[in-house]
Amino acid sequence: MSHNAGMPSVVVHPASRVRGHLPIPGDKSISHRYALPAALAEGTTTISRYAPGADCASTLSCLAALGVTIDGRGAANAHPDQRVVAIQGLGLGGLRAPADSLDAGNSGTTLRLLAGVLAGHPFESVITGDESLRGRPMRRIIDPLSRMGAQLRGNDDRPPIAIRGTALHGIHYTPPVASAQVKSAVLLAGLHASGDTVVTERQATRDHTERALPVFGVSLTRANGTISLRGGQRLRAAEVQVPGDASSAACWAVAAAALPGSDVTLDDVGLNPTRIGFLSWLERAGARIEISSGVPVGDEPIGSLRIRHGHLTALEIGPADVPGAIDELPVLAALATHGGALRVTGAGELRHKESDRISALVAGLRGLGGHVEEQADGFQVLGDRQLTGGTADAAGDHRLAMAFALAAIGAQEPSEIHHADIVDVSYPGFFDILAEISEP
Ligand code: S3P
Repeated sequence: MSHNAGMPSVVVHPASRVRGHLPIPGDKSISHRYALPAALAEGTTTISRYAPGADCASTLSCLAALGVTIDGRGAANAHPDQRVVAIQGLGLGGLRAPADSLDAGNSGTTLRLLAGVLAGHPFESVITGDESLRGRPMRRIIDPLSRMGAQLRGNDDRPPIAIRGTALHGIHYTPPVASAQVKSAVLLAGLHASGDTVVTERQATRDHTERALPVFGVSLTRANGTISLRGGQRLRAAEVQVPGDASSAACWAVAAAALPGSDVTLDDVGLNPTRIGFLSWLERAGARIEISSGVPVGDEPIGSLRIRHGHLTALEIGPADVPGAIDELPVLAALATHGGALRVTGAGELRHKESDRISALVAGLRGLGGHVEEQADGFQVLGDRQLTGGTADAAGDHRLAMAFALAAIGAQEPSEIHHADIVDVSYPGFFDILAEISEP
């Protein structure tokens, strides 16, 4: 693999197999969910293994602009253990009006969760982001937060989002789309609301917010897809450790599953059941996986994974299974280009991610020589021929940049991934690690 300094394109060379034993950097979703309650807590929270990507840095810089003092240690490419963040909480409702608009960068989670928090603060604020984020739908948070009493306005329901916070009242809400970000925005707003805030999910989504809030002393109840909390509870600071990011681990799991002779072990991976749908798909596709459970951190299960290749077979992922593997669908598509096949349906939500993740995925895999079809709510990959290699554009989407690289290692010729530096959003150093574990 050659990596041109200063150039956003990366050349990925074919690999015969991958081998290695890797630490996995802290989870992006969980890092946001420790940073936000920490800012609302009384006392100083220490978060170790804080996620290294730009998205979680955006959450910290927004909190700093809202008056929160944050001390960070550890460069983005430092060993996960070296990444420690200390956040001095301002107490519930204690954030201060920002001098300027808040920049969530590329991070939908930052924008949507922070909007929930700011809905309960009695000042005006504006949250914006990069071009990708400014194209993403926000009606899904504007509706419930408005029902709770806040005033929110978007640019045709897209960012920038102007928020006039107020004294909120609790609601009972059933999100129309399966979205952990929407659920979390409502629950975080509910902390500031009078009475009970209740969210009922039709389809389970990642439950990190529900697991994180009790770590900060919030009492909430969960039963049969319904989460309920009473507003006005005081949050207390905590010492927390972030598990390794299951979505990052999925990259190396896919690489190992794809190439015969591969053997990869990944340590300290978050094994929250709402995140590891990809493991059962890899197993069904033929991979050999060993899981050793570790001692949970906070309320999040962790463990080590060992992944080896097995003969690849076809997969069908339908609507009921999409939320459990939503962010891993691109890398599962990459796996299918190595043999086997993948058909995904009921995944229209992919069109509202950091890119239109269906059309950009199909375009990129085709650019590498893949046999791929686009559907309105999904796609189909037929791994009936080896990729030739070629070019693929990450289209401003970190998960696509990584998926294209994982497809490209199985091609006949080297491939070029354009705008590959977008991996920094969630996984700085991704291409260096790929080079390190790949054998020619
Ligand atoms: C996330 C939830 C999912 C996921 C995103 C992270 C989160 O988005 O795709 O990468 O941390 O809550 P939705 O809530 O839009 O489904």
